[in-house]
Amino acid sequence: MLRSGHGPTKHPDGGQLVRILLVASAFNSLTQRVHAELRERDHEVGVELALGDDLLRARVARFRPDLILAPMLTTAIPEDVWTEHPVFIVHPGPMGDRGPSSLDWAITEGATRWGVTVLQAVAEMDAGPIWASVGFDVAPCGKSELYRNEVSDAAVEAVLTAVRRFASGDYVPEPLDYDRPDVTGRLRPFLTQQVRRIDWATADTATVIRTLRAADSQPGVLDELFGREYFVHGGHHEDRLRGEPGAVIATRDGAICRATVDGAVWLPQLRPRRVPGGPVTFKMPATDALGADLPAGVPEVPVSPAEAAVRDTWSELRYHEDAGVGYLEFAYPGGAMDTRQCRRLLAAYREACDRPVDVLVLGPRRDFFSNGIHLNVIEAADDPAEESWRNINAIDDVVEAILTTTDKLVIAALAGNAAAGGVMLALAADHVWCRESVVLNPHYRLMGLHGSEYWTYTLPQRVGPEVAAQLTSRTLPVGARAAARVGLVDKVFDGSTERFRAQVRREAEILAAAPELQNLLLAKKQRRAADEAVRPLAQYRAEELAHMHRNFFGDGESYHRLRRDFVANTKPPATPPYLLG
Ligand code: COA
Repeated sequence: MLRSGHGPTKHPDGGQLVRILLVASAFNSLTQRVHAELRERDHEVGVELALGDDLLRARVARFRPDLILAPMLTTAIPEDVWTEHPVFIVHPGPMGDRGPSSLDWAITEGATRWGVTVLQAVAEMDAGPIWASVGFDVAPCGKSELYRNEVSDAAVEAVLTAVRRFASGDYVPEPLDYDRPDVTGRLRPFLTQQVRRIDWATADTATVIRTLRAADSQPGVLDELFGREYFVHGGHHEDRLRGEPGAVIATRDGAICRATVDGAVWLPQLRPRRVPGGPVTFKMPATDALGADLPAGVPEVPVSPAEAAVRDTWSELRYHEDAGVGYLEFAYPGGAMDTRQCRRLLAAYREACDRPVDVLVLGPRRDFFSNGIHLNVIEAADDPAEESWRNINAIDDVVEAILTTTDKLVIAALAGNAAAGGVMLALAADHVWCRESVVLNPHYRLMGLHGSEYWTYTLPQRVGPEVAAQLTSRTLPVGARAAARVGLVDKVFDGSTERFRAQVRREAEILAAAPELQNLLLAKKQRRAADEAVRPLAQYRAEELAHMHRNFFGDGESYHRLRRDFVANTKPPATPPYLLG
């Protein structure tokens, strides 16, 4: 085997540095995380999207990697590339597991323990020598959520081990040997829609939820509702509502509730099945997707955030208090927040502000904190520019409410990733605490937007104007540790999402009980008043929104095209320049 790079070099601290080309089907969350973690350790990292064998060959020849690493690849690497260069594949399964639907099978079959394996590319898919494998407990959640959390943590550990072993020069990877007791996986086929199909007349709630989770967020479960075919996305318990199996018995905040033989489940999103030759379809809040097909008699059954916190039902918002701290949890599929969701969040935030607590923690229990305005809902609107405008104003209202809260300390707790306006939403809080695994994308340029959410006030104040300009123009993801170094976030906690929640809770309670709390609140009030005197918040907003108005309504703006490409998941013709490294 040839090495086209110069081989690993020595780091000043004694470790070995490797020149690594990441090859991925998309610059997705795991690829971003691996990118951030390898750069954090000073390895030289480039990214190439898998958009064609010849493009890949040309990039490999130019980049001259010591190692090619594929964190998320849905196509094969050409033979001449893997024979001439070491190529490591990250496979989301334990040793011996093979095939394209690993996590789908794990969830479908109710596995409680799973793994991630880094193996070397050979002719047979997923059958190469093993460089590292890390196990994890399977959390009861959808596949994408599992992927962004437990899988991603295990994958990073396995990748770092594999890279260290590779760099050492003397590690011999282990051949795949099904006779070994620790090789627990096996080859499994692609999980088809036929296997995923739900028979509502017979399937119990546990089966329905497992089936939906195994297909969430992609590809969804193909199903029929009111005579039309949809892919169903997401599945959550309902503890009280009951009805005829298969019947849609309630709606709540855009989701529908469907009865099973022994209970009911909430389905937040639907994607109409695409008609051959017809327009691209994409996920939408379920009631929007059904439109006029939804019978008028189906009742809207709301639940308050406080009630949701003590029930086993679906809600985007939950609120509870403990030891002088209020916790407002919000959770949106894909982290996207449409106009209505922002308005509901604002109402819940205002209610929380009326509560007799001095410290308020904001953020979901797991997964995405926020990814800003809802590009799918905007795309589906009769007038996308108008809907963009409504959405950005609605999220700005939430940010403004946080920024002007002067009688409480507000903590943004990021258990999962955030991007664009979602990062800036977090920056409105007094403290930004982050799980170590989190990847932040504090920029808007990839969507052709100037951005709002008062970022021109909060970001430079946190990181200084120069770093603010770098972060927003380089458009690269930032890992939590790097974010803390530049002041983008205040605290980083390691470990699982459960550990993160426990640590946030402990620190928030310490703040709430601190003797200096009232002084901190007074200082906060004075700082806000002083800032307002220098430049009113309304002025920041007006200026940002003037830019955004141009982005939404102006001629020749790239936003509408970029949004359409994002929603339709259109592949770029070549790896974008910002990733070339
Ligand atoms: N609106 C609608 N959907 C969004 C969204 C948004 N703002 N941000 C993410 N999503 C959806 C994605 O389409 C994807 O859907 P899928 O699961 O059906 O494929 C899901 O959320 C997860 O996103 P994905 O891109 O697969 O995750 P990732 O971790 O690989 O990448 C981001 C995350 C945030 C970098 C990427 O989704 C992104 O760039 N989002 C847009 C951010 C933005 O520009 N917001 C608007 C300006 S405020």
